[in-house]
Amino acid sequence: MKIVMLGAPGAGKGTQAKMIAAKYGIPHVSTGDIFRANIKNGTELGKEAKSYMDKGALVPDELTVRILLDRVAQDDCAKGYVLDGFPRTIPQAEVLDAELTKLNDKIDFAINVDVPDENIVRRMSGRRSCPSCGATYHIVHIPPKQEGVCDKCGAALVQRDDDKEETVKNRLKVYHEQTQPLIDFYEKKGVLQNVDGTVDSEEVFAAIVKILG
Ligand code: AP5
Ligand code: MG
Ligand code: ZN
Repeated sequence: MKIVMLGAPGAGKGTQAKMIAAKYGIPHVSTGDIFRANIKNGTELGKEAKSYMDKGALVPDELTVRILLDRVAQDDCAKGYVLDGFPRTIPQAEVLDAELTKLNDKIDFAINVDVPDENIVRRMSGRRSCPSCGATYHIVHIPPKQEGVCDKCGAALVQRDDDKEETVKNRLKVYHEQTQPLIDFYEKKGVLQNVDGTVDSEEVFAAIVKILG
């Protein structure tokens, strides 16, 4: 099963993709997470990606596509995967489509997690994530059991560098200009599914499970 998650920054793509990955036994592939891991490890790729991410801009397609195709060529992706944060531009979607077509394959579901802009800035300012295991929380909606501490591994939670209000506003602008057209792209392919992302994350997940079966 090959799934693409669509939605604005902060819509809950990562939250849902992790739940899908756990239930269906497929890897969660997030280009944002790959870039953040590289930043943390101080790689050349991380340095380049950071210069774009800190502004809320997109990392260039050429670089992003190379990284994603490398990742999905690994053995654990053979049965399928859930892509989170990729594709993000029409050219990225076209390359992915062409690569899958070569393998006589395709994306089965594009799940659009729909959340209006008004909700987004509030969500982002409350997001905390675990630098050690990648778990994500929200200080009000999805709080950890103990404030500032990861439930899963006990590490201290951090706020993402690009979750500052000004950066979030730019990420939203970039989303509307470059990523939202993908909703049409996947609709035309007949694989688009919309879910309401404003409800509780467990309810969003129940709607997704209904779609995936
Ligand atoms: P990326 O990491 O992909 O960030 P994003 O798309 O901006 O999305 P987020 O991770 O911020 O949000 P999310 O939808 O995953 O929401 P989450 O589940 O965390 O990309 C970061 C940057 O990397 C980009 O700006 C770009 O520079 C670069 N990049 C990455 N991929 C790229 C690509 N393909 N091409 C070019 N550049 C690329 O939830 C958000 C918060 O809400 C959390 O606190 C969560 O706990 C809470 N929450 C979740 N669900 C609910 C709910 N139902 N109700 C209430 N709260 C909820
Ligand atoms: Mg995410
Ligand atoms: Zn953790």
